[in-house]
Amino acid sequence: MHLKRLSLTHFRAFTRLDIDFPRRIILFTGKNAQGKTTILEAIAYLANFSSFHASTDRQLLNFNMPVEPVMVGRIIGEFERQGRDHSIEVRFIQEYNGQVQPRFRKQVLLDGVQKKIGELYGQFNVVNFLPQMSRIIEGSPSDRRAYLDEILSQVEPGYARNLFTYNKALSQRNALLKNLFESNGDLDQLEAWDEMLAQHGAVLMDGRIRALDELERQALGIHHRLTRESEVLRFHYEPSYNPIAKNDEQLFLPVQTENNLVGIDFRELEKGFKEALCKNRRQDLARGVTSIGPHRDEFRFLSNGIDLGHYGSRGQTRSALLSLKFAEVGWMKERIGDSPVLLLDEIMAELDPERREDLLKLVGEVDQAMLTTTDKNMFPSSFVNACETWTVHEGLVKKDA
Ligand SMILES: Nc1ncnc2c1ncn2[C@@H]1O[C@H](COP(=O)(O)OP(=O)(O)O)[C@@H](O)[C@H]1O
Ligand SMILES: [Mg+2]
Repeated sequence: MHLKRLSLTHFRAFTRLDIDFPRRIILFTGKNAQGKTTILEAIAYLANFSSFHASTDRQLLNFNMPVEPVMVGRIIGEFERQGRDHSIEVRFIQEYNGQVQPRFRKQVLLDGVQKKIGELYGQFNVVNFLPQMSRIIEGSPSDRRAYLDEILSQVEPGYARNLFTYNKALSQRNALLKNLFESNGDLDQLEAWDEMLAQHGAVLMDGRIRALDELERQALGIHHRLTRESEVLRFHYEPSYNPIAKNDEQLFLPVQTENNLVGIDFRELEKGFKEALCKNRRQDLARGVTSIGPHRDEFRFLSNGIDLGHYGSRGQTRSALLSLKFAEVGWMKERIGDSPVLLLDEIMAELDPERREDLLKLVGEVDQAMLTTTDKNMFPSSFVNACETWTVHEGLVKKDA
């Protein structure tokens, strides 16, 4: 898969930008604050429909654009996927309709036809690698959940829609819990929401458990090689409750490690979650929130049995992240039967010379990669010569002669 053309209109600092890309490695160079990251951010948006850099989509609209009743920002990507050309367009629309706060909405189009966002996931695939991504390892559980959900949305049809429905049901259950607490209402009223959470939550857990297992398998050999045979990397899924249904009629094995979770039947997960939700109703009522479920699940990175989130050195964390990204590329290729576009934003500066060499091998795993740097000299000249280089300066992007 590769991106053939990118057009931006009023996206961040760009008023207008049109670039044609070759199916190879593209290196964007330029000083700070020129728009390099913005280009990769726009490309990643076509796969994830949210930005790693922005807390709200409003931030993506060019704040220098003249105020008008209706303001529209756009990302259009034309790409090739398994021999066919497609396009994705994202529109950010801000309207002043008499209110103090303008109304903001988003539209997405596939091949010129307006769709729901849920229908667009998986059409265009990227593996995104930014220095801030060490928070996948060192950050909060929600960072890790967001990461898994993002990559799963890209490869598993329906995952994003499930997540959306789950979150909606979750906030409705939480609202009802508060209501029941105040009115001293009947807990059986939670039944419909428990049902819904179990149904959609099981899809999320099932997807995450399988993905993590597959990623771990991909990462194992890579990490061994990257650490010169000194570290064994494992990904450990930690559900917020024991997800196996405790039904007296049936035998089950106690859950100790995430490996025991692999292969649990999807219906088992649904049933177990439903039972656990019922069992937790009183406790949830007292807390005013739903205390178990995939929105509370966690996963950890272990190197030689040591939790990297708590005890990893900087070097170890960086190696693990690099292994994870190699694994993600391999995993995505396997799942989608095509090569994702690889985006690397200022990654070289983060790594020691040995790791830099490893990183450049990652670039060789895909059809197309886009890299940014403030300093071309961080790359070996043979690498730079093999790239198409573009200079980004004050929002203008020019291919080097
Ligand atoms: N919504 C926006 N509207 C206009 N300019 C923006 C917006 N968001 C960020 N910028 C500007 O874009 C520039 C940052 O671009 P960036 O892509 O991060 O640069 P680089 O990666 O080359 O350092 C900054 O000057 C910032 O002020
Ligand atoms: Mg940048």
